[in-house]
Amino acid sequence: MKEIKVPTGTSDILPEQIPLWRYVEDTVRTVFERYGYSEIRTPIFEYTALFNRAIGDTSDIVEKEMYTFNKSETPGEDSVTLRPELTAPIVRSYLENNLPKIKQFQKLYYCGPLFRYERPQKGRRRQFTQAGVEALGSTSYLLDADKCRDAYRDTLKKYLEPHLPQLCGNCQRRFQRNVFRILDCKTPNCIAINKDVPAFDKYLCADCRAHFDNLIKTLDESGMKYGLDKHLVRGFDYYTKTIFEITHSSLGAQDALCGGGRYDDLIAELGGPSLGAVGFAIGLERTMLALESADIKMPEPPRPKVFVAVIDQKFSPKAFHIITTLRQKGISADMDYEGKSVKSQFRTADKLKSEFVITIGEDEITKQTLKLKNMVSGTETEVNESEFLSKPSF
Ligand code: HAM
Repeated sequence: MKEIKVPTGTSDILPEQIPLWRYVEDTVRTVFERYGYSEIRTPIFEYTALFNRAIGDTSDIVEKEMYTFNKSETPGEDSVTLRPELTAPIVRSYLENNLPKIKQFQKLYYCGPLFRYERPQKGRRRQFTQAGVEALGSTSYLLDADKCRDAYRDTLKKYLEPHLPQLCGNCQRRFQRNVFRILDCKTPNCIAINKDVPAFDKYLCADCRAHFDNLIKTLDESGMKYGLDKHLVRGFDYYTKTIFEITHSSLGAQDALCGGGRYDDLIAELGGPSLGAVGFAIGLERTMLALESADIKMPEPPRPKVFVAVIDQKFSPKAFHIITTLRQKGISADMDYEGKSVKSQFRTADKLKSEFVITIGEDEITKQTLKLKNMVSGTETEVNESEFLSKPSF
């Protein structure tokens, strides 16, 4: 019989990897909250129409990467899709829950799994995890970014048209549907042609120009290092004005750790008021790959404070009573459940890196004491059982 494995592009997170996950998740939560963002959780799936409308019909995600359950597979329901990103769901929830009425400017963050049907490779998974923030309803007025986009679109088309026969098949199609995406093509011919495309910043309208200049000035003044990339394209139609990515050299082809940008039209497009917004998301699996390559000391897995060993199996119920009492008092404690020898029980305690071992034998039962060994210093003490259990101290 064929062995059933974990689905392609997904993986199990085993107990020894959990400390690193917790460390990364706790760190992003702490940092986001320090910046005044509050956590929001939305469903794992949404109506497909949300992503079609927000991300755009010509995007790779909507065209070929969504896990969609059509109407026939979800009787009586509209088509639903496992969330491939979280900006659209957050805007949906912001509007549906009337958040702009409560407080127009909302700073929200999330951390959870997403799903994209992609060709798996290092740092590219079909299920992956993002931690991201969305600052919604910023008071910046809605700028007509499309005007300058139109001008730049025309310029790009004029530049690329004579090269059309040399562009790859994908880009020939993109030329009509969404010419900006040609700038992002990774095939050598297209890269060579793209090298000399006219820079976008000459085509900005006055409002976008001022916005861009102010942003650059702020980055410079705060000493933030950045580079300007005239080829950067992000695969979502909702962006307006600024887009950005943070990359890490250890990641290979999929080198983006984080991506984001401004989406001043999306709230209105999803039926809300005309309010600007900006956000970004960090890929946690890629963050962990980068951390591993940077040789950063990983957090230790949790270990029990106390391991209770028995000289004879007949004392196991006593050991069970002790670990239960300690656990109820908030102390992590464990014991052997498989009838192992005393030596082997100590070996288990060692493997678990337990801080203390309590041993119970005939002697201790008679004297109503416990033998407590500090596994780091090696010192042994005898304590009165009932006193220790009513007020454990180490
Ligand atoms: P994105 O660039 O598609 O943006 O994803 C953000 C980050 O998620 C990437 O930089 C990468 O680290 C990680 N990521 C994306 N796809 C995969 C994958 N298949 N496997 C592993 N990691 C992946 C967004 O999703 C936007 N919603 C970000 C945003 C928020 N824009 C405005 N607000």
